[in-house]
Amino acid sequence: MISIRNLHKSFGDRIILKNIDLDVAQGETVAIIGPSGSGKSTTLRCINLLENPDRGELTIGDKKYDFNKLSKHEITEIRRTTAMVFQNFSLYENKTALENITLPLIKAKKYSKKDAEKEALTQLEKVGLVDWKDHYPSQLSGGQQQRVGIARALALKPEVILFDEPTSALDPERVQGVLEIIKEISEQRITSIIVTHELEFALDVADKVVFIADGEIVETGTAKEVLKNPKDERTIKFLGHFADKLEYVI
Ligand SMILES: Nc1ncnc2c1ncn2[C@@H]1O[C@H](COP(=O)(O)OP(=O)(O)OP(=O)(O)O)[C@@H](O)[C@H]1O
Ligand SMILES: [Mg+2]
Repeated sequence: MISIRNLHKSFGDRIILKNIDLDVAQGETVAIIGPSGSGKSTTLRCINLLENPDRGELTIGDKKYDFNKLSKHEITEIRRTTAMVFQNFSLYENKTALENITLPLIKAKKYSKKDAEKEALTQLEKVGLVDWKDHYPSQLSGGQQQRVGIARALALKPEVILFDEPTSALDPERVQGVLEIIKEISEQRITSIIVTHELEFALDVADKVVFIADGEIVETGTAKEVLKNPKDERTIKFLGHFADKLEYVI
């Protein structure tokens, strides 16, 4: 349902992504893993055009886009079919939890205030935060803020949710609660791509794992194949750092 072909991205004269090909089927959860600086966030940011890809093609459902020639209408369309959950939550500090969710619904999706609030409450309910709806981000824990970020993404009813290390800014005791919510989303077969260092979680939840190093996809397979039986030297080396967690026998 989503496929990317030949995605390239440079910053200045530094090539960051080379020839990224990625397929995500309807309802699938794909985990992207890889060393720091390998281009994981940039890949997600190119998919929803927070970054401008240099070239490549994107297919979402039956719509095909050429990154080189996007019309304004297509840019809006791509941004509407994807929703991002950020590592640092990216909430408006001067808006309540509820308003953080209603705002994009009203602005981008043209909901009435009443409908937006109804939808926001439904999503806050799902992430267990209805009672916190009138709190500002500074009055919420990191885990709660991230749950608002997830509720905001869900409310947009995107074709695909892009999670960029959704738990890595959280205190350790908050991580599990957020992972559980992401697991529920995955079990509801909402198509998602998740950049994560939580390899046990990836093994449990992801249908597919993609290992990126130096801006290239090095290895792709089922979670079990890539995480338990990696083939490429670079994957083996990377996973070696997590050996205790994955009970490796290398
Ligand atoms: N806006 C930018 N301008 C210049 N260089 C950038 C920009 N954004 C990212 N980069 C560079 O692109 C490379 C890939 O960055 P990216 O954030 O995609 O890595 P990552 O795999 O997400 O790493 P991490 O695990 O640390 O989040 C890095 O070398 C980074 O310095
Ligand atoms: Mg990143």
